[in-house]
Amino acid sequence: MRIVIQPNYRALSKWVANYVADKINKARPTKDKPFVLGLPTGSSPLGTYEELIQLYKEEQVSLQNVVTFNMDEYVGISEDHPESYHYFMWHNFFNHIDIPRENVNILNGNAADLEKECNDYEEKIKAIGGIDLFLGGIGPDGHIAFNEPGSSLSSHTRVKTLSYDTILANSRFFDNDIKQVPKTALTVGVGTVMDAAEVLIIISGFSKARALRQVVEGGISHMWTVSMMQMHQKAIIACDDHATMELQVETVKYFKDIEKIAGNIIPDLE
Ligand code: GLP
Repeated sequence: MRIVIQPNYRALSKWVANYVADKINKARPTKDKPFVLGLPTGSSPLGTYEELIQLYKEEQVSLQNVVTFNMDEYVGISEDHPESYHYFMWHNFFNHIDIPRENVNILNGNAADLEKECNDYEEKIKAIGGIDLFLGGIGPDGHIAFNEPGSSLSSHTRVKTLSYDTILANSRFFDNDIKQVPKTALTVGVGTVMDAAEVLIIISGFSKARALRQVVEGGISHMWTVSMMQMHQKAIIACDDHATMELQVETVKYFKDIEKIAGNIIPDLE
């Protein structure tokens, strides 16, 4: 696992956005062979989306031939609800770039048959040839997408009940009223993320420090579902200094040194 440590959230967001843009550009995607990008919601990727919009405006990247699959969506709130992940993605990202509407895939939390919706989503990912790069964030308890502690580490897209911690954390978006937070969601599984050719997880701030420690220094555990990324062949954790506060000084130095050495050997290493 590659651990990239940036001094602050802005630098982290710039790094991730440049990495994503570079991957898209290097793939030279076409309509017939698009670049397939997995995307998260939440505050962690917001800065990345802002930077990607900027890169698009500067004509340094185009998402014309990019197909996206979002990680998750609440069950039972309308797509135009300001806290739905549909609304989040269009409002914060898709409306500002050149991605064709039909290239965007987000789970439908209002589908009549939720199980079918989840199975169809997996099939659609398979049919397009899999996800090239899956971006993710994590909750303070180390959950990825809505794979709460105790989720199967080989799970695929399905309906999940949210944990009390997540409902509480997300209540800040629902007038701080726990009752308004949906209790279930559709989510890709840990296995769905593991199936991607590459995974990049954004971890920012003190509130994620314990989770980062578990992912980097702890073992693989279903109680910290993102820790499964230790088993991925090409996983990057991109974090800021604040998130590293629970890591050992030695660990931080070790990963910073690796990046420095690799940067000297491979000059254009992003
Ligand atoms: C929700 C989402 C996750 C996201 C997490 C953290 O639980 N389902 O995909 O990673 O929130 O959000 P934030 O980045 O705002 O801390």
